[in-house]
Amino acid sequence: MRVLVTGGAGFIGSNFVHHLVGQQDVVVTVLDKLTYAASRASLDGLPTDRVSLVVGDVADQPLVDRLAAGHDAIVHFAAESHNDNSLTEPGPFIQTNLVGTFCVLEAARRHGTRLHHISTDEVYGDLELDDPQRFTEATPYNPSSPYSAAKAGSDHLVRAWVRSFGVKATISNCSNNYGPWQHVEKFIPRQITNVLDGRRPKVYGTGTNVRDWIHAEDHSSAVWTILQQGRIGETYLVGADGEHNNLEVVALILEHLGRPADDYDLVADRAGHDLRYAIDSTKLRDELGWRPAHPDFGAGLARTIEWYRDHESWWRPHKAATEAAYEVKGQ
Ligand code: NAD
Ligand code: DAU
Repeated sequence: MRVLVTGGAGFIGSNFVHHLVGQQDVVVTVLDKLTYAASRASLDGLPTDRVSLVVGDVADQPLVDRLAAGHDAIVHFAAESHNDNSLTEPGPFIQTNLVGTFCVLEAARRHGTRLHHISTDEVYGDLELDDPQRFTEATPYNPSSPYSAAKAGSDHLVRAWVRSFGVKATISNCSNNYGPWQHVEKFIPRQITNVLDGRRPKVYGTGTNVRDWIHAEDHSSAVWTILQQGRIGETYLVGADGEHNNLEVVALILEHLGRPADDYDLVADRAGHDLRYAIDSTKLRDELGWRPAHPDFGAGLARTIEWYRDHESWWRPHKAATEAAYEVKGQ
């Protein structure tokens, strides 16, 4: 199977490429623009006869057409992914997440290529802390940020191309991922590397916001399952029952690294900050038999902390500029 992975030099895309290489008879082409969020080093050590990198833009229609023609499937991860950046400069989010997805869809339509579109639980907006409901495939769309609105729009484009043009696509909406190769702008790697650097973790607002954490390896296995067995036109929610508020996560990081429990700062809140996400992944589990292999968040977080401790050369080049940008915003 020849699989084109857009955004494969980013966090989840690179985890997915490592996962794919573990499958037999899969050859991978990564299409990645290598934005600030990418790292070639995340693909180091992979067999060069099975993984190749094309540096380019998903919004470059002729390029995406040419690549789609030579592949059996496209898994579309490429996106601007960070909510905070979408609040300071939304333009690239519209261009890549909407126009880029449009170009991928047009290429899949012209060449009959199977497509799996990677999306997020943020398209559903947020939940109250005490709401017994979790997001399901039937939850109405209600995005809050420029990032999540652009992702919501991309999901609608995919559904329209399935219905109007018969594109063979599936969609997955996953909760917050953690694991190796995540950029230090994101919550968990930022706080781990802050502590490793002798800084205090920076928690937005009151720290009571809840995220539903899943290991990136489990997201990868879910995507591979859907690509192979998912019903065309269907959406599957991906989650591993990992709800924790931000203070709980910081407490685990501080404890693992031997620092006092109160050694963090509360900083300026994010505008429009979603309160809580929670995923009900019953459909994926019942219909396709998927289960997470890493359901213990504490154990997965401990391994992730050790990964960042062991891979300083991977994250160090991005740390100073990331912190300088946060400092300007009082975060
Ligand atoms: P990331 O920011 O780490 O990586 C994005 C990758 O896309 C980078 O390698 C970047 O260079 C590439 N890219 C950006 N614009 C491009 C363009 N125009 N053309 C080609 N490549 C481009 O993001 P991530 O966290 O790995 O997220 C990947 C996907 O998963 C996104 O679609 C995101 O919406 C979705 N998602 C993320 C999470 C999460 O917790 N991080 C959860 C659910 C869904
Ligand atoms: O739910 C899926 C989404 O998860 C994905 O679609 C996004 O691409 C991904 O970035 C992530 O979005 P979040 O905004 O939830 O992730 P982030 O890591 O930015 O923040 C997680 C929580 O931590 C959120 O409540 C904001 C808070 N936070 C974040 C940072 C960077 C802090 O308290 N301090 C921080 O320094």
